[in-house]
Amino acid sequence: MCGIIGIIGNAPVTPLLVDALKRLEYRGYDSAGVATLINGHIDRRRAEGKLVNLEARLRAEPLSGTIGIGHTRWATHGKPSERNAHPIATDRVAIVHNGIIENFQELKDELAAEGRRFESDTDTEAVAQLLTSYLERQMTPEAAMGKAMGRLRGAFALVAMFSGRHDILMGARRGSSLAVGHGDGEMYVGTDALALAPFTSRVTYLEDDDWVVLSSSGCTVYQGETKVERPEKKSGLSGALIGKGNHQHFMLKEIYEQPAVVGDTLQYYLDPATRTVRTPAMPFDWTDVSRLTMTGCGTAFYACMVAKYWFEKLARLPVEIEVASEFRYREPPLPEGGVCIAVSQSGETIDTLEAMRYAKSQKQILLSVTNVPESAIARFSHAVLPTLAGPEIGVASTKAFTTQLVVLLSAAIAAGRARGTLSRAEEERLALAMIELPARINETLNMEGDYRRIAENTLAAARDVLYLGRGSSFPVALEGALKLKELSYIHAEGYAGGEMKHGPIALIDDAVPVVVVAPSDSIFDKIASNFEQVRARGGKLVLLSDARGVAKLGAKAETSIAVPDIDPVVAPILYTVAVQLLAYYTALAKGTDIDQPRNLAKSVTVE
Ligand code: F6R
Repeated sequence: MCGIIGIIGNAPVTPLLVDALKRLEYRGYDSAGVATLINGHIDRRRAEGKLVNLEARLRAEPLSGTIGIGHTRWATHGKPSERNAHPIATDRVAIVHNGIIENFQELKDELAAEGRRFESDTDTEAVAQLLTSYLERQMTPEAAMGKAMGRLRGAFALVAMFSGRHDILMGARRGSSLAVGHGDGEMYVGTDALALAPFTSRVTYLEDDDWVVLSSSGCTVYQGETKVERPEKKSGLSGALIGKGNHQHFMLKEIYEQPAVVGDTLQYYLDPATRTVRTPAMPFDWTDVSRLTMTGCGTAFYACMVAKYWFEKLARLPVEIEVASEFRYREPPLPEGGVCIAVSQSGETIDTLEAMRYAKSQKQILLSVTNVPESAIARFSHAVLPTLAGPEIGVASTKAFTTQLVVLLSAAIAAGRARGTLSRAEEERLALAMIELPARINETLNMEGDYRRIAENTLAAARDVLYLGRGSSFPVALEGALKLKELSYIHAEGYAGGEMKHGPIALIDDAVPVVVVAPSDSIFDKIASNFEQVRARGGKLVLLSDARGVAKLGAKAETSIAVPDIDPVVAPILYTVAVQLLAYYTALAKGTDIDQPRNLAKSVTVE
């Protein structure tokens, strides 16, 4: 949600700022802007809409300067427009900001009473005006930033550039991520290591409440008025990682990376020789855990839903799951010594982080499953179970979800082993089924033409689509519906097959495709009944099952696909790839913006 970058060096920075913004655009794409200092004065170019509009503006009105800041926005306060685009500036300071200043109205009222005029509808302008007010009282930029940090409430990351000061840039963070990059005679500050990857692999991650002063040769980090040391680390991300390769979209590339990244994640969590799961050491003993709480948002929450089936079945462990935004405000009682697992690709999602804060206040042991080991959520946890998906740029989560499932299944198996609820033979059988996954995913991808045909012939023209599943296929149905609606803007809902007759069946007619996610498992006959109920009402059935399931029901469906055979326990991982392909090709047929769907952004750092 919003990407920020700042560069201080000796060569023209605008092309570098734009290059960094291209890497950050997935975080927000309703407007963008850059500002530099020219002869001590702030000059900026901003444009509504995608980054290409800013690039066109810069071609028409180039911006020189060797120090500058840039921003790509997902609007929170003030609609997307050039006026509200960042950098937000006064004559003294220019700011780029990610997150929310919660007390912006209070600050604005106070500053307006001093006679200050606000030109945008953003919360960010309160910070720019607050700093300006301090600077006009003869404070140094350092003193102004230190004091401002004491006044700002909310979760934010920001970078500031000061008029007349070619020698410094400043950054600050609380809640949202911010990292400093070390170059040769050039320093960078940006949202994350991914944004800095083309410039440098030497990165310092800032902690909550840090503020930093950068010069072209180094940086000093403060907490309050105290200087603090933050280590310089080597980031493993290379600039090349961020390309689309030969694929038309990042999403398709990421769907196709799944055999590899699922394989990488398996390698981390499984010993194929002994067919044993090996999770990192945990700061608790599974036998002492009486209840597990799991939380996340959107797709990550569906990973929790699938995992609930696994932990309950394999480890006989009661699991409570809830979307993070509800969990934190419900204030549920949690047993002392309980374990809370937060699932988040980005590790930045504020609702999830806040839910963890609540869980911590209830003395829970915090585990996180995340794709970004340096993220706020990872750092807030007592232990991290990493997914090895690599950077996910497509806004709709794909490979992050399937790798989350691999991690959570491994954890459930480890818990079952420790609690004595899973035999050695069962563990070996499950490990083998997991080891097969990359090959089965590949086979699924090889059938992309079949998915494309269904997408083009059956789904793309629909106004509404239903997805049905039972057991651990129910969350896959929810995920399929979420992917379809966010990418193609077709209204789609997922239901537990058994629930359909309690209401949603009223929606069925011959214009409503119903995608049934139905591996041949112990409840196949039950979903088969739901299938018949749809059929009797003229619904257009799309069956996703294996060869056995298709043999039983395929003739009764409008169309069906035989997903490769796989153990039912790991089936949710494979069937997820099937629903991803349906959503992708439907969106492609509709011509929507697949990597940057309307109104969405990745890494939701606001509530
Ligand atoms: C949907 C999607 C979102 C995210 C959600 C949580 O395709 O990507 O629903 O899953 O915003 O994000 P993370 O996992 O970064 O916490």
